[in-house]
Order: sequence, then structure tokens, then C-alpha cells
Amino acid sequence: MNTLEAITSRRHIKQFKPDAVSEDLLKKWLSAASFAPNHRMVEPWKVLVVGPETRAALKHGANFGEAPVVLAFLSQTAENPIDRDENLIATCAFIQNFCLAAWDEGVGTRWTSIGTKQGTRDILQVPEQYEVVEILGVGYPNEVPLAKERTPITNKLDYLP
Ligand SMILES: Cc1cc2nc3c(=O)[nH]c(=O)nc-3n(C[C@H](O)[C@H](O)[C@H](O)COP(=O)(O)O)c2cc1C
Repeated sequence: MNTLEAITSRRHIKQFKPDAVSEDLLKKWLSAASFAPNHRMVEPWKVLVVGPETRAALKHGANFGEAPVVLAFLSQTAENPIDRDENLIATCAFIQNFCLAAWDEGVGTRWTSIGTKQGTRDILQVPEQYEVVEILGVGYPNEVPLAKERTPITNKLDYLP
């Protein structure tokens, strides 16, 4: 799969097959993801592999689409709001890199915005200097939905003199 194909064919996967995803593959994709741009080489991301007890405690309604793997992505906070934003931006690039690397090998991801929910921090035992950005279910898709139509990019494009 070339880069453009990976970017345009990746989908948010709702339900996964029970097939395991090997730790070696996960590490390979996470290592690739760490080539994300990040200011001053802070590498502000941290990844938690969510085990069964922690996963149960999160009480996610759809149980992350029954994904065999659940990963929580954290970003380092900072006192300076600009540094914090830059860290978040770099961590988002890291997450998307991970999603594309996995997708390139047929493994899908389900984004779950429960990181900011009251209690999630404690359940995940997030270190003080980190915040939860996203929790992903990761696995082989049961079904790949059709792409949702996007706004023509010309509607989002302005030219400055
Ligand atoms: C920051 C972020 C949070 C998201 N949170 C959720 C979520 O909580 N539940 C959900 O079903 N999808 C969530 N999504 C996935 C979007 O619904 C999905 O990307 C969008 O519908 C476009 O579909 P596609 O990714 O298949 O192109 C999230 C995506 C992002 C980037």
C-alpha cells in the first residue's frame, strides 16, 4: 500500500475480529510512529497497553469494538500553554502515524474519546505530568465501512496575497 492509499483507505473500525495482534507488530508500528515531527525532540508521547482488568474498569459501552488490543495514548503536559499545545500536536501526529502503519498491514483502529472522562485518569494511573489524548481499540476489522464523504478541499483552501 502506498502512502496515499493508506491515508485515504483507513477507516474508523467499529468492530474487530478476535484474532490477536502480535506484540512485535505493535512495537514495529509504534516505533515507526515515533518518527512523527516533534518540536525540540521532546517526544512527548507515552503509550499504555491496557490490560483486561483496567479495560473492564473503563466500562466502555461497546468494549472498544471487542478489539484484542486497547492502547491509551498520553501526551506530556507543560506549564507553558504553547509547549502543551505543541506536545499535543506532536502526539496526534504520532497517533495518526501509528494508525497508518497498522492499517498498512491490515490492522484497524477505533478512536474512543473517553480520555477526558472523569475517572479515566485514575483508572489508567496516568502519571502527573501526562494527559490522556485518545484511547484506541486495535485489531483486524470485522468490516471496513465505506468512506464518509469529505468536503471538497477547495472549500477549505484560501490563498493569501
Ligand atoms: C479526536 C477524535 C476522537 C474521536 N472519538 C470518537 C468516539 O469517541 N467515538 C467514535 O465512534 N468515533 C470517534 N472518532 C472517530 C470519528 O468518528 C471518525 O474518524 C469519523 O467518523 C470519520 O470516519 P473515518 O475515520 O472512517 O474516515 C474520533 C476521531 C478523532 C480524530
